[in-house]
Amino acid sequence: MRVTFTSRRQSAHKAEGSIELAKTKRGFDWKHKHLLTIAQLSSEEIRFLLQTAHGFSDVSTRSIKKVPALRGKVVANLFFEDSTRTRMSFHLAASRLSADVVELVAKGSSVAKGESLRDTARNIEAMGVDVIVVRHDQSGAAALLADSVNCSVINAGDGQHAHPTQGLLDAYTVAQRLGRDDFDLSGITVAIVGDIQHSRVARSNIHAMTKLGANVILVGPPTLLPSGFSQLGCELAHDFDEVLPRVDVINMLRVQFERIQSQAFPSVREYAALYGLTTQRLAQAKPNVTVMHPGPLNRGIEIESAVADGPQSTVLAQVTNGLAVRMGVLYLITRVK
Ligand code: MLT
Repeated sequence: MRVTFTSRRQSAHKAEGSIELAKTKRGFDWKHKHLLTIAQLSSEEIRFLLQTAHGFSDVSTRSIKKVPALRGKVVANLFFEDSTRTRMSFHLAASRLSADVVELVAKGSSVAKGESLRDTARNIEAMGVDVIVVRHDQSGAAALLADSVNCSVINAGDGQHAHPTQGLLDAYTVAQRLGRDDFDLSGITVAIVGDIQHSRVARSNIHAMTKLGANVILVGPPTLLPSGFSQLGCELAHDFDEVLPRVDVINMLRVQFERIQSQAFPSVREYAALYGLTTQRLAQAKPNVTVMHPGPLNRGIEIESAVADGPQSTVLAQVTNGLAVRMGVLYLITRVK
């Protein structure tokens, strides 16, 4: 079943949870039961999703931080890889929408006894779960689950493939910071800097930013920036200092030490000297440049503390916006059968 948002449906939803779906287009047809990648979404769908998220953004500022939009639904968090922000953010987003939330802790569950991902998910679904939020170190794990269960699946990060809600919350944050309340990022240049090769955040950011109209420059050492990325419509660069004065947004990536298999750079010190964002380097950028980082931060490697905690940094705003974006995602996908 497809969901069509009519003005009548919007007013009912507004009355129910006092949510304003800002600038929602009449008759918008949201058809995705799963969120696996941003590549699956059109520009219009991304904008609609971000507008829906915007409608939820004030829930977290109220004294009673709850709306009944997902009352009676059950969301299961299946995290097979470490996470602080994403796991807690999905948990809180579901709770704020009044869903029941269950958490699988892989250590101590039947996964530790060798149960397959598919079997684990099907057993959890058999308990009446409506949405599975999955994080896994294997690329494709979320798509495998979506093929194996009848409920909705949200990809909370699969290997180095995709982290769609991070791409969406980053796009939301850029739009918020630069006053683009229609989520049109045309004319904005975003540099994504660092370990591009191993980063699912980079891949999801590229899709989100380019689909919303931004120019994307990928910056990193040749060993961490395969030339194939140019096929995604990005400029590739190895000289961070040359790129800096041209950009409106700098999105710094964590060096994914856990995924790097052979020596990608001579030393951490050398990497930091060429690709770390320091106060001194930031001075070469436009005065109002926005600095982003998905976290966790390797302070002193890809980003200096003074920059991460400075006035241009959106690190904490990204976390706050992540909650609204995940509420928007949960709200939309649970309306599709
Ligand atoms: C991720 O899960 O990919 C994080 O949000 C970013 C990182 O680990 O560097």
